[in-house]
Amino acid sequence: MPDFPSAKPAADLTEAEAAEELIWLADTMAAHDIAYYQDDAPKVSDAEYDALKRRNAEIEAVFPDLVRENSPSLKVGAAASAQFSPVEHGVPMLSLDNAFSDEEAVEFEARVRRFLRLDDTVIAYTAEPKIDGLSASIRYEKGRLVRGATRGDGKVGEDVTANLRTLADIPERLSGSGWPEVIEIRGEVYLEHEGFKALNAAAEAAGQKTYANPRNAAAGSLRQIDPKISAQRPLRFFAYAWGLVSSPFAQTQWEALEALKAWGFQTNPQSRRVEGTDGLLGAYREMEGLRPRLGFDIDGVVYKVDRLDWQQRLGFVSRSPRWAIARKFPAEQARTILNAIDLQVGRTGAVTPVARLAPVTVGGVVVENATLHNADEIARKDVRIGDTVIVQRAGDVIPQVVAPVLEARPEGAEPYVFPDHCPCPLKTPLARETTASGAETVVRRCTGELACPFQRIEHLKHFVSRRAFDIEGLGEKQLQAFFDKGWVKEPADIFRLARDEAKLGELRETEGYGETSVANLKAGIDAKRPIPLDRFIYGLGIRHIGETTSLALARHFETVEAFLTAANMAAAQRAGGAHDVFSQLDGVGPTALDAILAWAKAPHAVLLPDDASFDARLKASVPKLNKTAREALERRFGDWAAFEAAAQAASAQAPGEDFAELAAVDGVGPVAASMIAGFFGEDHNRAMVDHLLAELQVQPAERPKTDTAVAGKTIVFTGALEKMTRDEAKAQAEALGAKVSGSVSKKTHLVVAGPGAGSKLKTATDLGIEVISEDDWLTLVGQG
Ligand code: IVH
Repeated sequence: MPDFPSAKPAADLTEAEAAEELIWLADTMAAHDIAYYQDDAPKVSDAEYDALKRRNAEIEAVFPDLVRENSPSLKVGAAASAQFSPVEHGVPMLSLDNAFSDEEAVEFEARVRRFLRLDDTVIAYTAEPKIDGLSASIRYEKGRLVRGATRGDGKVGEDVTANLRTLADIPERLSGSGWPEVIEIRGEVYLEHEGFKALNAAAEAAGQKTYANPRNAAAGSLRQIDPKISAQRPLRFFAYAWGLVSSPFAQTQWEALEALKAWGFQTNPQSRRVEGTDGLLGAYREMEGLRPRLGFDIDGVVYKVDRLDWQQRLGFVSRSPRWAIARKFPAEQARTILNAIDLQVGRTGAVTPVARLAPVTVGGVVVENATLHNADEIARKDVRIGDTVIVQRAGDVIPQVVAPVLEARPEGAEPYVFPDHCPCPLKTPLARETTASGAETVVRRCTGELACPFQRIEHLKHFVSRRAFDIEGLGEKQLQAFFDKGWVKEPADIFRLARDEAKLGELRETEGYGETSVANLKAGIDAKRPIPLDRFIYGLGIRHIGETTSLALARHFETVEAFLTAANMAAAQRAGGAHDVFSQLDGVGPTALDAILAWAKAPHAVLLPDDASFDARLKASVPKLNKTAREALERRFGDWAAFEAAAQAASAQAPGEDFAELAAVDGVGPVAASMIAGFFGEDHNRAMVDHLLAELQVQPAERPKTDTAVAGKTIVFTGALEKMTRDEAKAQAEALGAKVSGSVSKKTHLVVAGPGAGSKLKTATDLGIEVISEDDWLTLVGQG
């Protein structure tokens, strides 16, 4: 065992002795790290190294104030993001929309043209190789590198300044002139094929883990805690964009690329400046041809509108710019054997069949699992266990099984029979999902909801995931472990755990945890007690309530109380099973349904002979029903008393005004509203939310923009828009703080009407609401 400077138990050390020993430990361990990672020549056994680590942790536990920033305990086993400090980007780092075909590229060009209202003007674009690495943002002040960060979640990245500084492609000082005083330069960190091979060969020789592809290797290398290790990896950097700038420095993307080059960056020599759709499609073909000879991975071509003033006008839709798109290369394929089909149960109970494959390399990545989508797909493709199958992988998409190779089918391979039970220990029956109108969909769902342990854990994983509560230090593995121990059964348990000293104590004693990681975990959880309303809603994991809908709900209701009141009221009023009996009956449409419900609410006596037929009674009672509807009802109920009772039950359950109000929230709609109502209609869900609220302070939503001409106004677009699509108009209005509604009411402030506007325009005129043309609108928002 190592020769410790002192044999005293940690608790008996004086503070000065402890400080001295901690320095000794840090130095000793750093030396061993270098010997191990860089020289491939470890000087101590793993057990000895662990003894050093333990001693360090013991001393730090007694003297927490002596834990220094570079303490070895912070390097070991800590969550990745805890290793680097957060850096807020001056301007968010966005992603790109994808186009997978020529048609989609042409549609992109048409969209840009429409948005800019350019008829015949030729639009120039840059076509740049889409490098498959990881993006980074490097801030220069007065021409000097001050900070470098990874993309992170787009808003906040990780500070990897020291590592980026080691790249020869990243200058410490900008050359030339004309650079803004402050500029965030953006581009891609990547590895060339040669560098990747050498790196993996070295790792293999040292008995270390190898990387699956150059991109993972680049990411792993950049995020090394020790910049000396990054320095030894042949990382490269291409600059292609910028974030915050203190002053404009170019008028076109092309000029900007030239400037980046002049300041000392590598820019991709394959980038082109092209014009119109022919130019876009031609550049793609050219890049496809160049791809095998580039010496590094690219996964497509990025098209960007060249003129920066046009980029500015085009702006963004949620997380991607309207002025750029990534034209992706098609998927890569390979053949392998299908060994088994397993069922995976998702958060909402949807069951996905997963192919277990003999490992095969597809596009440089070893694939062992692939999705088979759903039962219908398996049947349609007639994929059988034992088959040789074609597997495909495209970019970040989950690999998929394309088809079996029939010539290679082994004798006796049987058609696959989709199980009718959930694979969980409860073996709950699987149901084929139906839509609101009763049509069957391809999805099979486990009906166990949160009773199903598989759904429960997926639900918890969703809760802590990056876009939901994003709890640092609580990854899927830890969560699974807490779930298996029975510590965390519902989201609130996570927060209870953080204040449960007994459990935390037990955790400190657990292999793989220590004083510091438990402290980090607790801090990570506590940090999320104040939580923005949209994340809170999204975290609940209600079906169909994604990030965008959550944000729409948060913006609309502003406080958690208002949201919960609306959700609970809608739940109390949502349509129930008795209502479904009618709404899902073939032959009974919405008008017939309304007529039946109206009658059931206020039945009027009709004079008929006692022996009158079902049809005659129905005709007299609900005269609006047509023959099809009457026949359908007679088939379903036969007996008048049964019909009457069912209709009354349904009318009691018909969705009410509060439900309609929730459905009318911009960005919500009836499907999402019924999911919310369904969720809050279940006692166990309400209890789950209550428990959670006891642990949290949910923060009100941020108010939308208030300083524009249309801020806070409710706007309705109706009729044909000629210069933009509906979506574009809506995005533009919302970006300026307006609400866009689908229907005109007293609450509407402004109606933008194009040719062909009908009833909405009439309602607006009747209500005396201001009506303007599309051109007026564009002038109003400063784009006229
Ligand atoms: S521009 C707002 N240009 O692709 C647009 N991105 O899917 C910012 N990428 O996160 C990106 N090559 O990591 C741009 N020539 C290029 C690129 C490129 C690769 C990556 C980048 C980005 C991702 C978007």
